[in-house]
Amino acid sequence: MTAQASAVIVTKGLTRRFGALTAVDSLDLVIEQGEVLGFLGHNGAGKTTTVRLLNGVLTASAGQARVLGLDPASDGVALRRRTGVLTETPSLDERLTAREQLAIYADLYDVPRSQVSARVDELLEAFQLADRGDDRVSGYSKGMRQRLALARSFLHKPELLFLDEPTSGLDPVSTRQVHTLIREQSRSGDHTVFLCTHNLEEAQRLCHRVAVLEHGRLVAIGAPAELGRNLWQGVRLEVETSPACVELASSVIHAFPAARDVTLAEDRPILTLALADREQIPQLVERLAAAGAPLYRLDPQEPTLEDVYFALHGEQEATR
Ligand SMILES: Nc1ncnc2c1ncn2[C@@H]1O[C@H](COP(=O)(O)OP(=O)(O)O)[C@@H](O)[C@H]1O
Ligand SMILES: [Mg+2]
Repeated sequence: MTAQASAVIVTKGLTRRFGALTAVDSLDLVIEQGEVLGFLGHNGAGKTTTVRLLNGVLTASAGQARVLGLDPASDGVALRRRTGVLTETPSLDERLTAREQLAIYADLYDVPRSQVSARVDELLEAFQLADRGDDRVSGYSKGMRQRLALARSFLHKPELLFLDEPTSGLDPVSTRQVHTLIREQSRSGDHTVFLCTHNLEEAQRLCHRVAVLEHGRLVAIGAPAELGRNLWQGVRLEVETSPACVELASSVIHAFPAARDVTLAEDRPILTLALADREQIPQLVERLAAAGAPLYRLDPQEPTLEDVYFALHGEQEATR
């Protein structure tokens, strides 16, 4: 297989079957160094199976993969030394403290002895665990466990990081912290991140490109805005009205049958919405005017991943 020089992951026809079920179906992917790729799909789409194939934890039924220049099927051990993996349900040793847990991993991943203590401190700090670093994991909350598991996957500064649903089950504050950390990790441009998620907003925020997987098949890949332009014929609008009329405008827009995904800005009299067709704009403007809500501004916006999802799956299937 000929791989692009800078590609970190290349797959060709990668397929994994479980009996009669094809969990990953003829996957062709090229992921460049420094990319944050969002791997997006419903539960059961084949995301975790793909991560396991790319790390050599599972063998392919057909097709090939090269990851960091290695074949995961035969060089899994060497490969896993260079990748960081946050699995879907990370296992932590309940009897150990976070500090002990990280130190053991540092040893496993050959972090030089002289650097371990500083690196562990740095991670405990970054993941808001510093004050609990000497407590046993058995007393940790779900969010703390997830942050510790993430810290562990970052420990050896892997050039390729697989994160399988890193924020699932986390509260909004922890989720934001995790997003910041992923962004920091990718900022240097050397680290590649393969991020499995079914959270569209997360993918939109963090990823350079997203790949949409459906029943094991890749149905779309590209930058979020590019996918939106290619796959969606509708229009997303930002509507500005007066502070006094924002409730009124909001009720008119909510009552407008063609409007979808209506949101109101927190601190400004601005609403955003999506319409399937721009021909619906004049009607909406008429209704706002008839209700007496002044229209100060009407701006088209880049489509979101949610718009792409609606285009791909229809209204019933869009995830949140
Ligand atoms: N070890 C396994 N044995 C049998 N079926 C499996 C196994 N692992 C995954 N599957 C099936 O493969 C499909 C894809 O699963 P998975 O990769 O976990 O999806 P996702 O991570 O996108 O939710 C699902 O239908 C799942 O039930
Ligand atoms: Mg999964």
